[in-house]
Amino acid sequence: MLKDLNLVPFVSVENMMKLVHAIGIERFLRELAEHVEHDFTRWESFDKTPRVASHSKIGVIELMPTSDGTLYGFKYVNGHPGNTKSGRQTVTAFGLLAEVETGYPLLLTEMTILTALRTAATSAVAARYLARPGAKTMAIIGNGAQSEFQALAFKALLGVDRLRLFDIDSAATERCAANLAAFGFDITCCAAPEEAVEGADIVTTATADKQYATILTDNMVGAGLHVNAVGGDCPGKTELHRDILLRSDIFVEYPPQTRIEGEIQQLDDDHPVTELWQVITGTATGRRDERQITVFDSVGFATEDFSALRYIHAALKSHPYCEQLDLLADPDEPRDLFGMLLRAAPG
Ligand SMILES: NC(=O)c1ccc[n+]([C@@H]2O[C@H](COP(=O)([O-])OP(=O)(O)OC[C@H]3O[C@@H](n4cnc5c(N)ncnc54)[C@H](O)[C@@H]3O)[C@@H](O)[C@H]2O)c1
Repeated sequence: MLKDLNLVPFVSVENMMKLVHAIGIERFLRELAEHVEHDFTRWESFDKTPRVASHSKIGVIELMPTSDGTLYGFKYVNGHPGNTKSGRQTVTAFGLLAEVETGYPLLLTEMTILTALRTAATSAVAARYLARPGAKTMAIIGNGAQSEFQALAFKALLGVDRLRLFDIDSAATERCAANLAAFGFDITCCAAPEEAVEGADIVTTATADKQYATILTDNMVGAGLHVNAVGGDCPGKTELHRDILLRSDIFVEYPPQTRIEGEIQQLDDDHPVTELWQVITGTATGRRDERQITVFDSVGFATEDFSALRYIHAALKSHPYCEQLDLLADPDEPRDLFGMLLRAAPG
């Protein structure tokens, strides 16, 4: 029998936090990473398009849709590096999962926390293929909202246990170190980015600035390093000096989007890059040797959000941290939408 067709499960920020704690943060990251990785293995079954971006001088608002033919998902996300000055997040997001068969939504959820989790999980999946085996020390430059999630995903998936932190705002570094204090890392707070990268096997850059920034200069990148470049994700917003890219092997999510938004916007349109899904499926090589420099030019792709939505939808079955939202008009007779409105007239 059809009933409650008007209701759609909604995961608020409060419920997302309850869900993450109920599952456990590191287990959540591992399971989410499995979903992300699995969806990369079936890359060819997805509808893919560069995200639809609306740019302004101070930020960007984006829609990120995809479908595998059975499910459809999209995320609304913004990126406003100046937002923290007014007490707002740089990145906020929410998203929706729907069934293709009827077009009816299955889930509406906050995705600000979920984006930080999925970005970190994706970074760690990539690093498993691209970082040197046994990599245990990671520098994180940019210690804002994404940073602790990145640290924990690399711990959960690669066993990274030494962190070297740097941010132009030392208060951000101190907060990051304090937040991670109970997770068993050996943490060094650094006074300069050059100090942070010393001895690091992996460098994650997660800074926010709407400009061509140079967070890493060429001399800071030694043989064998894996660079997880998270913060350069918009036209005119990059983190790595071009020379680093010219002597690295570059791995990307979806080239048509990354060439617009990623570090490789600094390179010629035909500069060779390798797609992560090909590395994951074994049709392309990831790390070849100990001395190779690898760059994961992360911008965030719709399939990763789809994987995250899929994971949350499944997780709600055993951890029902959601409320039912009266989102869809549901007249008794489907064609009598107007009649339903009339019957709701007051008095
Ligand atoms: N690739 C992806 O999938 C993805 C996903 C989410 C966020 N992002 C991007 O990651 C970046 C970080 O996001 P966030 O939510 O953590 O932002 P945030 O504003 O919370 O933190 C950014 C931090 O970078 C620091 N910073 C700025 N310039 C710096 C510099 N030159 N050197 C060192 N530190 C510097 C700031 O002080 C701040 O603490 C943003 O650019 C965001 O757009 C990418």
